[in-house]
Amino acid sequence: MYYIDEDIKQNILAEAPETEPERQYYFIDECRKIVSSIEEEKGRKLTACINTFGCQMNAKDSEKLCGIMQRIGYVMTDTEDADFVLYNTCTVREHANVRVYGRLGVLKNSKDHNPDMIIALCGCMMQEPDVVAIVKKSYRHVNIIFGTHNIYKLSELLFLYFCEGKNQTEVLDGTSEIVENLPANRVYKFKSGVNIMYGCNNFCSYCIVPYVRGRERSRAQEDILNEVRQLAADGVVEVMLLGQNVNSYAYDFPDLLNKVANVPGIKRVRFMTSHPKDLSDELIRVIRDNPIICRHIHLPLQSGSSRVLKEMNRRYDKEGYLALADKIRKGIPDVAITTDIIVGFPGETEEDFQETLDVVRKVRFDSAFTFIYSKRTGTRAASMPDQVPKDIVDDRFNRLLALVTEIGKEQTDLYEGRTMDVLVEGINPKDPAYVTGRLSNNSVVHLKGDESLVGQIVNVRLDEAKGFYYIGTITDDVSLS
Ligand code: 5AD
Ligand code: SF4
Repeated sequence: MYYIDEDIKQNILAEAPETEPERQYYFIDECRKIVSSIEEEKGRKLTACINTFGCQMNAKDSEKLCGIMQRIGYVMTDTEDADFVLYNTCTVREHANVRVYGRLGVLKNSKDHNPDMIIALCGCMMQEPDVVAIVKKSYRHVNIIFGTHNIYKLSELLFLYFCEGKNQTEVLDGTSEIVENLPANRVYKFKSGVNIMYGCNNFCSYCIVPYVRGRERSRAQEDILNEVRQLAADGVVEVMLLGQNVNSYAYDFPDLLNKVANVPGIKRVRFMTSHPKDLSDELIRVIRDNPIICRHIHLPLQSGSSRVLKEMNRRYDKEGYLALADKIRKGIPDVAITTDIIVGFPGETEEDFQETLDVVRKVRFDSAFTFIYSKRTGTRAASMPDQVPKDIVDDRFNRLLALVTEIGKEQTDLYEGRTMDVLVEGINPKDPAYVTGRLSNNSVVHLKGDESLVGQIVNVRLDEAKGFYYIGTITDDVSLS
């Protein structure tokens, strides 16, 4: 696929600005010219599909990637029979990798029918050299590979691919650079994630994130606030501040939270994720005193056993976690505490597992994500002895899931009959006479309503608690809060 002569390409490269984001806007323009000429040739628009695996960070990155593709001229689509297909991958557990390989096999068939199709891979999985080697060897229909540190360079890599028709790979080991002001396309009009920091320095022994996302880098307060002001001007009412560990934000997280909550037009602020080792009293106070900050703290426990927590390098113990959860519940009325728990960490005994169940019973998590330990090459835990046999892990997983489900349901029941604010997020996909929204504490509520409510905060009576969600009715007109 050669669209540009070598000397013209060299001229374009020679004139490219050195600084970011100007350089990328330059390549976006160059790609747009190429895409226009392909459109003319084909007599139709080109389509692009971005599929996102994994966490909120990846979802946010995909909004940026989508913004770049749209600016280049692609029409976004949900289906993979597109001219450009990008997988933004996750590697936190092995299962995520297996899924990507499976789907790459399917894409090969699509590409056989549409040889001009461009297939690209990016995200956490690509930061693993073994994965890139496998893709290059066994999935040669993948045309562009990049990592987590250079997502902003999509247009530059696409430009090179268009010119040379050769597969492009650029994965960086790390970066100290944070590129601001790239285009982005939000999935929701009224809510948006906002990165406040990238990377992680904690090196929990089971976790691959510090290896694939690099060291912590915090964005300047003013850059974050400018983005939030811009979002508010665009009609966003809820922002979610994103970081692997927001409490280690370098420039005073509670202060940032307060400032974001005070941006005119912002009605709700959320954040994720909090590491228990650095959640401060000041943060609890700031949340308590500012009703715009949501009554929800996601506080990954991982294990309830102090012995396992030490092996995990979590830097808190069972008592410390319980004391913190207690302080949060007492300090912030109506707060929901949610968590992540891993079962089957190497060497976990039945007694260790009982400690986990004990913490679940004592903290009474409003909801919990439960995971089976997955061995990640390169992490410290991968070489630990006593990997727990699968049947034992499965049994513990089922017992844990049963308990968190039961307690989650009881927690949900507590609010039945109360009247609370709901931010309506969309039409209920199962019943168009209903809309679906969330409470400040992140619980889901379904209520009768139509499209006009989407993006509005309404006062809702929670008529019926249904395990993990509520059925409610609006008690007033759209609130002006
Ligand atoms: N195995 C299982 N779960 C993991 N997590 C992170 N690494 C692993 C692993 N190797 C879970 C943790 C973390 C969440 C995002 O994913 O619970 O909080
Ligand atoms: Fe992984 Fe621990 Fe960092 Fe979370 S805090 S991303 S679990 S290393």
